[in-house]
Parts: sequence; structure tokens; C-alpha cells
Amino acid sequence: MSTILVTGGAGFIGANFVYLQLEKHPEDRIVCIDKLTYAGNLHTLDKAMQSPNFRFEKIDICDREAVFAIFKEERPDIVVNFAAESHVDRSIENPGVFLQTNIVGTQVLMDASREYKVKRYHQVSTDEVYGDLPLDRPDLLFTETTPLKTSSPYSSSKAGADLLVNAYHRTFGLPTTISRCSNNYGPYQFPEKLIPLMIANALANKPLPVYGEGLNVRDWLYVEDHCKAIDLIIRQGKVGEVYNIGGHNEMRNIDIVKIIIKALGKSEDLITYVADRKGHDMRYAIDPTKIHNELGWLPETMFAEGIQKTIAWYLSNKDWWEKIVSGEYVHYFEKMYGERLKKSQK
Ligand code: NAD
Ligand code: DAU
Repeated sequence: MSTILVTGGAGFIGANFVYLQLEKHPEDRIVCIDKLTYAGNLHTLDKAMQSPNFRFEKIDICDREAVFAIFKEERPDIVVNFAAESHVDRSIENPGVFLQTNIVGTQVLMDASREYKVKRYHQVSTDEVYGDLPLDRPDLLFTETTPLKTSSPYSSSKAGADLLVNAYHRTFGLPTTISRCSNNYGPYQFPEKLIPLMIANALANKPLPVYGEGLNVRDWLYVEDHCKAIDLIIRQGKVGEVYNIGGHNEMRNIDIVKIIIKALGKSEDLITYVADRKGHDMRYAIDPTKIHNELGWLPETMFAEGIQKTIAWYLSNKDWWEKIVSGEYVHYFEKMYGERLKKSQK
């Protein structure tokens, strides 16, 4: 039996990971800490709260005293750090909080991990640390040795954290692993991200704001497959290593939006091209050969199936996301998209 400390478990991927652990490893204890920022939703963990093996504490990973206290009490064997500011557009508006949570928070967690001698510290990172690839070179993919070359304050903060993780491994011998995953989609994703935002807007017959010409390419992976990969890495992955995780599933944004429109029986007239994101990365594409060869991982859910499952989830869990899009999010949407939508309609 192990105690796994999961940070950011009230967010999208962290919550999916908590549920996978409770189902797959019922012998383990899960301690979840989360600051409950705008992106954290305690209702997402309602079912987990019923499990005797699950504990939740509202803690900011930058709060050294609180983090050390929970480590002292729980003595985790494994730490999995999902907690982060995760939205690129918000990092362009306000970089400071990204540096604080994503870099300083990681340092605090690793200091506590050293002090309480955890057996594994796992950092959940992103393919965005590699920068982007050109559209006309489909032969190029990100491998674990691709140099870090970031574009946004978000990706820079994640790359900074990755460098720090490697430094803690080399300097202090902390038993670390890092995973760098491509774009996730699935249940419980906050509706500021492309897929849930398009589903929510289409259902409300609102404009679907596509940045630039919608030609940017992302490599989409169903969230459960990401969680299964992390589960393998923390139990069987080699200390000190980085593992890329990707879906072998490159798609243009505009094609994703059209799939969602079709599935919901809406009109393509809802598509509204808006001013592009500053510094917008063109293409991400992951080469996941290493995790396949070393740990036998492969994505299990193909996009055609995963996107229908995801749309069905948002249709049958309207109360989960309608609360979000009718609250503080209204101001966020107006601030981020108000001017861009007005300009695009001229
Ligand atoms: P999310 O924004 O949905 O959730 C983040 C969670 O972290 C929230 O519950 C939030 O309350 C919590 N949090 C934020 N600041 C905190 C702090 N200071 N202390 C404690 N908790 C805090 O993010 P997500 O999409 O689930 O991403 C999780 C991780 O995976 C992030 O590290 C992200 O960089 C990485 N990642 C995401 C994707 C993706 O496609 N979403 C892909 C690759 C990697
Ligand atoms: O690649 C992994 C990363 O994927 C993670 O590290 C990030 O945490 C996660 O947010 C995601 O980043 P992206 O910027 O790729 O995801 P997002 O959903 O914000 O955007 C996906 C694409 O869709 C991107 O090219 C921008 C575009 N887009 C996005 C929004 C929100 C639009 O065209 N319109 C929109 O309204």
C-alpha cells in the first residue's frame, strides 16, 4: 500500500487521475491538495470524497508551511504534481501567477519531497516546452531530446519547472520523473479550453471564436490515456527520466470545431474567426516511442470515439459546466473575447 499525494486534483487532469487511481489501485491512499483557484472545482471530487482512501485539503502549493505540514502528517510515498496555472491566454494577460505557482510551487513541493524522503516525485509537464513545429514538415516530431524553446509565459514557466526538477535530481538525488503530454480532452475540462468552450458555445448558439485561420495543429489525447501513462511512469518509469506522451492524433483546430458543430447538429455559421493569440504556436506533435518501448504504453481511445464520449459527457453533465459559464466566467469571456468578436463582425 502506498500513499500518493496528488496536487491540483480538483482540476481537469488531476481529477481524472484521482478517479483512475481509486479504481485501479484501491489499496492505495490518495491525498489531494488543491488551492481551488477558478479552475479547481470541489464538486468534481464529490464521488472521491465518499472513498475512505481519499483525503482532500485546500492548500496552495506555494504555502511552504502548509505543504510541509501535510507531508509530515501523511508521509507520501509518491508525489504527482498536476497543480498549475494552465491556460496560455491567461498567461499572456497575467504572467506573474504562472511563475509563482508553476515554478515556486514546484520548488516547495520538491523541498518537502526531499525532507520527507518521498520515493518518487513526478512532474506533470507539457509538450509546449518544446515550442512549435512548422506545418510543412510533418516528418518533425518532439522527442525527449528536442531542445526546450518556449513561446508563452505559460510554457516558459513549465519549462522553468522542468529544469528545476532535473536540477533537484542531479544535485540532491531526488528521485524524479517528468512527463510531457500533448493536448488533453475529456470530462471535467474547464470551458475556457478549445473543446469544452466550443461545445458550450455551440449549445447556446453563441459564436465559436476560432483564432487566426484555425490552421494550428494540436496532437489530441483522451485524458484517461494520459492518466494511464502517468500511472505507469510513477510505478515503473526510470528515475531521472523524461517521458513524452502523445495521441498520434494531429488535427487542425478548425476541423475539431466542425466535428463538434456536426455532432451537435448546429450551423457552421457560428464559426467566427477572431484575432490570433499572441505568439500562437503553429503545430505540436509528440513522438511517444520511448514510453511505448520502455513501458508498453499506447493510447487506447481513438479521437473519433473520444470526442463523441466527451460531447456526451458535457450533454449529460450540464449542471457541472453551466454553473461555471454563468458565474465569474462571464466576465472572463467578455474580457478575452468581447473586443475580438466585435472586430471580427465588422
Ligand atoms: P486545470 O487548470 O484544469 O487544473 C489545475 C488545478 O491546479 C486546479 O484544480 C487549480 O485549482 C489547481 N491549482 C492552481 N494553482 C494552484 C496552487 N498554487 N496550489 C494548489 N493548487 C493549485 O489544469 P489541467 O488541464 O488539469 O492541467 C494539469 C497539469 O497538466 C498542469 O500542470 C498542466 O500544465 C499539465 N498539462 C495539461 C495539458 C492539457 O491539455 N490540459 C496537457 C499537458 C500537460
Ligand atoms: O499541448 C499541451 C497544452 O495544451 C497544455 O500544456 C495546456 O495546459 C493546455 O491548455 C493546452 O494548450 P493549448 O493552448 O494548445 O490549448 P487551448 O485549448 O487553449 O487551445 C487549443 C488550440 O485552439 C490553440 O491553437 C488555440 C485555439 N483556440 C483556443 C481557444 C480557447 C481557438 O482557436 N479559440 C479559442 O477560443
